[in-house]
Amino acid sequence: MPSVFETAPAASAIPITFVTKANWETIRGALAEPARQFALANGFAAKPGKCLTLPAADGRIAQVLFGLEDDTAPSRDLFRPGALPGLLPPGLYRFANAPHDARLAALAFALGSYRFNRYRKADIPDVRLVPPEGIDAADILRMAEAAALARDLINTPSNDMGPEELARAAEALATRFGASFGCTIGDDLVQQNFPLIHAVGMASARPPRLIDVSWGNPDHPRVTLVGKGVCFDTGGLDLKPSGGMLIMKKDMGGAANVLALAQMVMDAKLKVRLRVLIPAVENAVSGNAFRPLDVFKSRKGITVEIGNTDAEGRLVLADALALACEDKPDLLVDLGTLTGAARVALGPDLPPFYSNDETLADDVARCARAENDPLWRMPLWPPYDSWLDSKTADITNAPSGGFAGSIICALFLQRFVEPATKWLHVDIYGWTPSAKPGRPEGGECQAARAIYKLLSERYG
Ligand code: BES
Ligand code: MN
Ligand code: ZN
Repeated sequence: MPSVFETAPAASAIPITFVTKANWETIRGALAEPARQFALANGFAAKPGKCLTLPAADGRIAQVLFGLEDDTAPSRDLFRPGALPGLLPPGLYRFANAPHDARLAALAFALGSYRFNRYRKADIPDVRLVPPEGIDAADILRMAEAAALARDLINTPSNDMGPEELARAAEALATRFGASFGCTIGDDLVQQNFPLIHAVGMASARPPRLIDVSWGNPDHPRVTLVGKGVCFDTGGLDLKPSGGMLIMKKDMGGAANVLALAQMVMDAKLKVRLRVLIPAVENAVSGNAFRPLDVFKSRKGITVEIGNTDAEGRLVLADALALACEDKPDLLVDLGTLTGAARVALGPDLPPFYSNDETLADDVARCARAENDPLWRMPLWPPYDSWLDSKTADITNAPSGGFAGSIICALFLQRFVEPATKWLHVDIYGWTPSAKPGRPEGGECQAARAIYKLLSERYG
């Protein structure tokens, strides 16, 4: 990814002035008469998202006006400047005055210049920004590059992003940062006691695998990240309807986002012993697919009855979480596109998170707000735990009834986490259904920046 930031002398950059209803009078009053007339003739009003380039006497662009919400507007979008790369002509720009949050505005600008260009010639905007004074531009760039990694991995269709390709992406990241890389593939998953990962992935011609990456000083606190890597989710035999299946290339969004997070952690050299576990599978249909009411004994020893083969994400995460707890990490985080119910409850842009540790939950909520990477806590509601009871096995993966789907999934996962392990689970969507400033339609980086901030605070 070519850097969108350029530390050129500010004088050579075109200034962008942020205007609001509140400051427009003053800013308009300070414009030279021709510029004021030009804005008037173009009907420019200081409305959020409106953009106007003002010409100099020689016809070049002298400056840009860009509308933002008033400071006090409850619905103000801190990522609004992320629309600029899609609106501006090619060139080098700078902020002439402060938007609501200069740091987040610069980040939004970088995030907004992303385009997925693997299959078609790039229409990446040739728009660069002199980063505003006083921000850590390297850290912002680190976040933008990580987001681009997550988006690229998710946007790549499943024919080019199967379990093997996902493992290759993890291996490339490991190589770049001198991390160790391991992978348990196919029937070896049975040998090494990952029955649930094998059960979900065995119907695909592309064998399932468990990716295991480790990095950093072994004496530092252990942080383990687990990401759902379902490279396509047909639903298995309890097949998804076509509308629900359409965007299931994104079902490795948890894996994509833990890789993005790992990239930030390693690039920033945080003082952790990092481990990344990704069960990478395709939930496919074939004669040897796992079936409704099959029972498997999990790695942890808990027997699981299959209520629905479409609740596959929690199955592959269960074995990975059990493994993660075996070396007693200081902090355990899992991310996955686990339930449609999460989206029903909170929509695509606000993933629910769950934690068994109050301090961790408070810190996550605070970091999510600070980074404009919103997350909302939901409860590991104990009275619903018994809904996991099965008539045949210890638990079912999909109780009938369908209430509280995201909570039930979190309670299922909790069964595989050691109670003493501080644990964060995020039920992400990993996808922007229609473009918003800084967020092009398609694969999305969710929760990774918020958790990076948390890890930077704790282990920076
Ligand atoms: N990958 C899906 C969840 C999903 C669906 C996320 C649509 C985002 C958008 C997951 O594997 C799944 O199918 N979950 C089921 C669980 C149910 C069968 C208990 C769901 O949410 O319907
Ligand atoms: Mn599913
Ligand atoms: Zn799934």
